Amino acid sequence: MALYVHWPYCARICPYCDFNVVRDRGRVGEQAALVEAILADMEAQAALIGPRRLASIFFGGGTPSLMAPEAVAAVIARARTLFPPRGPIEITLEANPTDAEAARFAALSDAGVNRLSMGVQALDDAALAFLGRNHTADEARRAVAVAARAFPRLSIDLIYARPDQTADGWRAELTEALDLGFEHVSPYQLTIEPTTAFGRAVARGAWTPPDEDRAATLYETTQVVLEAAGFDAYEVSNHARGVAARSAHNLHVWRGGDYLGVGPGAHGRLTLDGARTATVACRGIADYVAGVAGGAPWSEREMQSILDAAEEKVLLGLRTVEGVALADLAALGRTAESEPLAGLTGDGLLAVAGGRVRATGAGRPVLDGVLKALLV
Ligand SMILES: C[S@@+](CC[C@H](N)C(=O)[O-])C[C@H]1O[C@@H](n2cnc3c(N)ncnc32)[C@H](O)[C@@H]1O
Ligand code: SF4
Repeated sequence: MALYVHWPYCARICPYCDFNVVRDRGRVGEQAALVEAILADMEAQAALIGPRRLASIFFGGGTPSLMAPEAVAAVIARARTLFPPRGPIEITLEANPTDAEAARFAALSDAGVNRLSMGVQALDDAALAFLGRNHTADEARRAVAVAARAFPRLSIDLIYARPDQTADGWRAELTEALDLGFEHVSPYQLTIEPTTAFGRAVARGAWTPPDEDRAATLYETTQVVLEAAGFDAYEVSNHARGVAARSAHNLHVWRGGDYLGVGPGAHGRLTLDGARTATVACRGIADYVAGVAGGAPWSEREMQSILDAAEEKVLLGLRTVEGVALADLAALGRTAESEPLAGLTGDGLLAVAGGRVRATGAGRPVLDGVLKALLV
């Protein structure tokens, strides 16, 4: 079982982000209460789910690099006690690249974090200002250098498909990023989420994101540059230099493995008595803390039907190079010989080999449409 820990605080809220986040106003008491609630939540859920082995831990956010290193160490220690792992495990923490946070990387490494995932987003100051980031490109370069020394494994996030971004500009920026030195990169296409400041700006016509053709060209550029640099796209938005650099935590989730989710708004998937249970923790910090105290930290907790669980496995699995087993599709009544799978393979968007179905190079950029056709 993997463990996901959500830390919702951010120094500043970015205008594109619709994750479960709140502005960090330095409320020390509230944050200490949240750490205690996360520890208590793990304890209570351990009693419910029985003995498990920990496969990986992922501190996501929000900005968990703002967490006190002692709190990170306490969560790791409690998780190890409750769910003793068989050997060394990947422990990832998401970080923002500011000087202040880089100064804490050594302490976070001492706390047990062995993989850092850093939101560099862009290496251009104008783009960073547009994205509402609280760091410059130089600050991000410095933070990457500090992280490379502090952690054995390093990943960076980048955001492309910004308005007016050209393929040449993106190629140059990505090429420059490669010089920073990391084993893993997640280039995300900017998504305009309706409930964000960007969503409202685009709705009132303040600016327009790239159209589909330009976004497709930028996606293509990403694949070509990263492949030439030795990174394989083992998932639609995740590229690793070699198999060992792939994220064990994310692969576990994409393969349909169990994970416990703690912290405000965290999702979890646990197989209990043979049925898969989907949980969503209360999103508000006070609601979550009160929920843990009252024995029910969830805003949703339901048993998935066999069909829903199988569909989720296909949705996630087809994003990866591993694809999904034909047997998983059979659970949904899909076979290689019949429609819609036969048509999608005939069109070269999916391929069947060795009992597995994978998205092809042509299928990946249009995966949302492929999945819709496959799962209707
Ligand atoms: C939950 S954030 C946490 C990382 C960290 N707080 C930071 O911003 O550096 C994870 C990543 O999601 C990506 N992201 C968030 N909203 C996005 C959006 N609307 N479009 C594209 N990428 C997005 C960003 O690249 C970000 O680094
Ligand atoms: S992108 Fe990161 S820093 Fe910005 S609001 Fe989202 S979680 Fe917070």
